Amino acid sequence: MARILITGASGLLGINLALEAMREHEVIGIDRGRLRSAPFRVMQADFSQGTETESILESARPDWLVNCAALANLEECEKHPEQAKRLNTDLPAELAAACAKRNIKFVHLSTDAVFDGTKQGAYTEEDEPNPQIVYSQTKLDGERAVQQVNPQAIIARVNFYGWSLSGQRSLGEFFVNNLSEGKRVYGFTDVVFCPMWVNHLAQTLLAMLEKDLHGLYHVVGAQPMNKYQFGVEVARKFGLRESLIEPQSVERSGLTAKRSHNLWLSVHKLSTDLGRPLPDFSTGLDGFYTQFQQGYPQKIRSYQQA
Ligand SMILES: NC(=O)c1ccc[n+]([C@@H]2O[C@H](COP(=O)([O-])OP(=O)(O)OC[C@H]3O[C@@H](n4cnc5c(N)ncnc54)[C@H](OP(=O)(O)O)[C@@H]3O)[C@@H](O)[C@H]2O)c1
Repeated sequence: MARILITGASGLLGINLALEAMREHEVIGIDRGRLRSAPFRVMQADFSQGTETESILESARPDWLVNCAALANLEECEKHPEQAKRLNTDLPAELAAACAKRNIKFVHLSTDAVFDGTKQGAYTEEDEPNPQIVYSQTKLDGERAVQQVNPQAIIARVNFYGWSLSGQRSLGEFFVNNLSEGKRVYGFTDVVFCPMWVNHLAQTLLAMLEKDLHGLYHVVGAQPMNKYQFGVEVARKFGLRESLIEPQSVERSGLTAKRSHNLWLSVHKLSTDLGRPLPDFSTGLDGFYTQFQQGYPQKIRSYQQA
């Protein structure tokens, strides 16, 4: 059993990772005041300015630190580039350096969006990133800063969906919420990605830590699909009307931050090093649906401050 410190414990990944990790490990979450009654220990810290990294690590004394804190909203990053740099580049670098000093295994979450999406086929870890927007540039800078100060760190480029505290954070929730209310939505046909159920991501990160992997990995779903197809899969699983999803190009979406068209990432390196294939998409979607049937979305929302 390890003691795991999770920054961004109120986020989509943070909360689900904390709940998943609690089954076998001791979990301490870092939050800036959103969590009220989480079933794990919570410490409060706001990382917007300087960090209290040293005092947090001194007090928590973790074996592993998983950094899920970020400015992960692409449009917000365009509006607040300084804040994006602070949270996506400087914070991970500070945490990674402090962990290296104390021999704490460090995991940094990065993004598939470091690529410009012009490649035909799957991107490997060897491919050169070419970030197009503030979010992806600051995430790539974060990767490089972490690698420099802490070569033993795991850097995971991810893309995932699941149930969040707000009920509105993930693309899976977007389709379920809108289709349940009979609302028409767009599904982008020209954005290919590899969605992974957040619990599979959490389990995979824990397996990587247990195996003592280090370095850069693509940790995404094994099956590429476009966002429209993802919406259709969700609609079918939940018994919702897929005809409400209108196929559309992302170029007509009006989103201010540019989206890459191809974010198909190869998971060959990870599955080889883990010695097993990654979970398939349909198993993840089954898990997402089972959680819904069992009231998991309401359960995690109840951990939030009123
Ligand atoms: N979701 C995806 O599919 C996806 C795709 C690619 C990469 N990623 C990466 O995966 C990681 C986790 O993403 P996510 O979707 O779980 O993000 P998220 O839901 O937006 O969570 C971000 C977390 O960071 C915390 N945070 C933000 N500003 C903070 C501050 N100033 N001080 C302390 N904490 C702060 C947030 O706290 P509050 O709740 O208080 O705001 C929240 O807990 C990020 O590194 C993201 O870039 C995610």
